[in-house]
Amino acid sequence: MNRIIPIASDHGGYEMKQFLVEKLKECGYEVYDFGTHSADSVDYPDMIHPLASAISRGEYPLGIILCGSGNGAQMTANHHTHVRAALCWNVELAKLARQHNDANILALPGRFIPFNLAWEMVQAFLSTQFEGGRHTRRVEKIEQF
Ligand code: RB5
Repeated sequence: MNRIIPIASDHGGYEMKQFLVEKLKECGYEVYDFGTHSADSVDYPDMIHPLASAISRGEYPLGIILCGSGNGAQMTANHHTHVRAALCWNVELAKLARQHNDANILALPGRFIPFNLAWEMVQAFLSTQFEGGRHTRRVEKIEQF
């Protein structure tokens, strides 16, 4: 199990991030919180770039990012080499992102889904393995253009 989970959000994902941080800690994970650290308005790239950069450098295998819609966070993270951030809306999509895409970041829409669903998605994302096989070739092609 990956024991240290990096997490980052803007103000739109702040409340859900705080909820997820507590849930992760209750389950025995260590959490590295890249912020934001209050509900004050901020610019999501300021928190998301540092987390995505750490994933890109291989410092953490998996991470979680949030903003209001999840879109800005995902778009920001996916500018980083070796980052595959998946914006997910349900548990099945969170699992598929790991199984088929070897996603290393789960992006969540902090203002649009229930907190308990987000926690179920996080657990699914963290506990699901990449299937490899034919998906390996496809994932490798993502960065070949
Ligand atoms: C902030 O209001 C909001 O735009 C942001 O959280 C996110 O949804 C952007 O994609």
